Amino acid sequence: MNFSINAINQAGDLKTTKTGCLAIGIYENKKLSAVAKTLDQHGEITLAIQSGDITGKAGSTLLLRNPTKLAAERLLLVGLGKENDTNERDLKKALEAMSNTLSTLGTEDAVIALPMGSAKKLRVDQIIRHCVLAVHDKNYRSDTLKSKKEPDVLGVKNIAFAVNKQQSAQAENALRNATALAKGVELAKNLGNLPGNICTPSFLAETAQDIASAYQMEIEVLERKQIEALKMGSFLSVAKGSDEAPRFIVLKYLAGKAKEAPIVLVGKGITFDSGGISLKPGANMDEMKYDMCGAASVLGTIQAVAEIGLQLNLVVIIPACENLPSGRANKPGDVITTMAGQTVEILNTDAEGRLVLCDALTYAERLKPAVVIDVATLTGACVVALGKHNSGLFTRHDDAHDQLAEELLAAGKATGDAAWRMPIEEVYQEQLKSNFADMANIGGPPAGSITAACFLERFTKKYVWAHLDIAGTAWNSGATKGATGRPVPLLTEFLIRRARMQAKRK
Ligand code: BES
Ligand code: MN
Ligand code: ZN
Repeated sequence: MNFSINAINQAGDLKTTKTGCLAIGIYENKKLSAVAKTLDQHGEITLAIQSGDITGKAGSTLLLRNPTKLAAERLLLVGLGKENDTNERDLKKALEAMSNTLSTLGTEDAVIALPMGSAKKLRVDQIIRHCVLAVHDKNYRSDTLKSKKEPDVLGVKNIAFAVNKQQSAQAENALRNATALAKGVELAKNLGNLPGNICTPSFLAETAQDIASAYQMEIEVLERKQIEALKMGSFLSVAKGSDEAPRFIVLKYLAGKAKEAPIVLVGKGITFDSGGISLKPGANMDEMKYDMCGAASVLGTIQAVAEIGLQLNLVVIIPACENLPSGRANKPGDVITTMAGQTVEILNTDAEGRLVLCDALTYAERLKPAVVIDVATLTGACVVALGKHNSGLFTRHDDAHDQLAEELLAAGKATGDAAWRMPIEEVYQEQLKSNFADMANIGGPPAGSITAACFLERFTKKYVWAHLDIAGTAWNSGATKGATGRPVPLLTEFLIRRARMQAKRK
């Protein structure tokens, strides 16, 4: 896949642009974009729209062959929805439809001349990002473990974005970021899709090591003995049920000022979650190989950040192990001691995510972080609450945290990788009371994703913190089963904006 920026002087130049396919935008209610108007000298575009062959709604497309007096061999009309009111989801849908069509064409080259920067919401960087992600997504194959590979997607391989001269620097920058992001998303998808017998805790550690050497990052991989020395009794209690050795991964990208406090991302790295002694039902249990998608997403994000070369300090922490039943596994009723010294009564061994994360969150204190964000496929309850469209965002309600929530929500919205804020009030903490320990690891059926967040919150008092529950968004089930790479776009965009803010402050 090759993307490039093609700076033009004016829309009229597109008439003589030689390409296999020129993609232009149209709106609902039979409205033409400015470029479409310019290219419609012979009324062909108007005629096509009047015929009813394309509605202009997001997701609609129409291919015209041999357009009169244009150098392009094909003209692809791309519906963008309502003019001045295209939202991120529509834009994503439109560019997915466009990339689907491009993949079916008998040409290798296309020029994308969609309206950029004309309507309020169609910003250059958004169009380019969605387009690059959609094309990468279309070309994504999960056949690495099949003996017979699926045939490659044919069609367009070279895509140029037509922008006007004033936009070209911005567009080049957007393209660099989008390409790095697509690579990060792909890494997260690949790791997520790998089965538990291949993507083990040590495999995750080796992947982190590969990233560290590719981008000159610092890395520490702690093994069981070292984890014991740190007194991570909660993490170890989950790990000890499996023969697979745990790993505690700390990966540091330090491209900011030496004194600048790092942003810390903590990813849940349960490489398979059987539930443990509180065993899960058999149906669809294979999908619990995805229980390390938090880890995959923070690795994808740090790779994207390094690829872009953002000037900030970022640390990724991954507690990685399996949750299996065995003679050494946690039992309901067991009481364990966390790294923070608090005791936990394990009433359900399947609520293991919080048990591994709480020690990682305590470890994060020693990094003196500016902010800590944990990312986890934490609760089935979050899937019930928000489905597959929004990740759950949890953070305390006070000024610092409200600002952080705003930043994360905005980054999610801008990238079409949305999150929805959930409450995390003191009143829910009561559900975690235990008769025998400082707290229980479950809070009963009501508000399951909130009490899980409340459990984590107890270990984050020393810094600014947010939690993303990605149980519903990290992978798709059914016919399109596969990891989505979310929330790499949200996190990467958040960090791009943070780096920009920090640069401005200096
Ligand atoms: N990894 C699961 C959460 C999960 C379940 C994500 C289904 C996506 C789909 C987590 O470890 C878990 O099992 N949570 C339990 C908690 C319960 C025992 C309080 C759950 O959600 O059922
Ligand atoms: Mn579980
Ligand atoms: Zn789990």
